Amino acid sequence: MPYFDLRPKRNRKDLFNMEEEIKEFTSIIKRKVPLALILGLKRYGKTSLVLTCLEELKIPYIYIDCRLLPSLGALSINDFTSILIESIPTLARKTRERIYRYLEKIEGITIAGIKLRIRPSKIKFQTLLSILEKINSIDERIVIVIDEAQELRRITRYRIDSLFAYIYDHLENITLILTGSQIGLLYKLLRKGNPEAPLYGRAYSEIKLKPFTPKLSIKFLQKGFNEQGLNPPQWFLEKTVEKLDGIVGWLTYLGFKVCEKRRFDEKIIEEILKEAMAMSIMELEHFLSNRYQARKRYLAILKTAAILENASWNELYRAAEAKVGRIPKPTYNKIIGNLVDAGFLTKKEKIYSIPDPVLKEALKSELIKI
Ligand SMILES: Nc1ncnc2c1ncn2[C@@H]1O[C@H](COP(=O)(O)OP(=O)(O)OP(=O)(O)O)[C@@H](O)[C@H]1O
Ligand SMILES: [Mg+2]
Repeated sequence: MPYFDLRPKRNRKDLFNMEEEIKEFTSIIKRKVPLALILGLKRYGKTSLVLTCLEELKIPYIYIDCRLLPSLGALSINDFTSILIESIPTLARKTRERIYRYLEKIEGITIAGIKLRIRPSKIKFQTLLSILEKINSIDERIVIVIDEAQELRRITRYRIDSLFAYIYDHLENITLILTGSQIGLLYKLLRKGNPEAPLYGRAYSEIKLKPFTPKLSIKFLQKGFNEQGLNPPQWFLEKTVEKLDGIVGWLTYLGFKVCEKRRFDEKIIEEILKEAMAMSIMELEHFLSNRYQARKRYLAILKTAAILENASWNELYRAAEAKVGRIPKPTYNKIIGNLVDAGFLTKKEKIYSIPDPVLKEALKSELIKI
């Protein structure tokens, strides 16, 4: 699979410059750490890292993609049970078949070939625990990956972190890997640092992914184009990295598109950047869709942060108010807190900025209006 394949990578030779992270991840699995978090903003390569390592280690794993859950609104613990059961086919055959034999006996689950059908209304909470216990008993070690786990914060009437703590304490053959692109929200779900939280005092590992440096980004593009028999001029690589920073997902996207068109000019960078901006606007719109009332204020703050590039709490506050009128301080604090938790805004040493260069460009443009 080439570097510019858009799907998450599953093979070490396709994963550029992640040796350190692979080492850390491998050590987590080998040390049988019960819980680990893989953190990084959107498109930093979390899913690729996890899948590549697990394929390489040949450890049985269940891969649960929380983006398959209903995208808005409240969820129930039954939604989680359903998605867990639906993800069992991601296991390697031998392990899968053993779990299938067990699942066949459960009311509400039917098996046709490798497909599983579930009638959620028939599934009980006890079913969830007994399936997890079965998973625990089937092999020496099994990994459950919950990709984009912050989505589970929408489960109402049940604290999913209690379930994680239960797995941690009692299901010793399971390693739970949670990934999150909205890091603050994932920490909130786990109630990190809260002495009353069920996971409090239970150590877990974290791997934080970072963007590539400009030099590495150029090397990545160069190698990816060479794989496709293309030889890009240096200015093209530099310009691309200037626009996209070292975000591997954006670099891969641009590489893929340029390989389709086989041209290296300034116009093509602009064209692809426009497409990328439209994608990041859609993601932002999704986030704003259940904040209908405050939309204007959210956008004023984001657009201001994009224009100012780096702003203090006060600078951002004044400039946003100049755009949309008075914003009460508590509201302003709440909004920037939510934006930081969701990863649209970052705060470093009291300075706020937009971490994604593509979203920043989009916010400065007329593509999204207050
Ligand atoms: N180290 C890498 N080398 C080559 N390609 C990579 C690398 N990491 C990620 N990619 C590519 O970048 C894109 C994003 O990767 P991936 O989906 O793994 O990231 P992610 O952090 O899970 O993103 P998201 O937050 O959108 O789920 C994919 O096209 C993937 O193939
Ligand atoms: Mg992912």
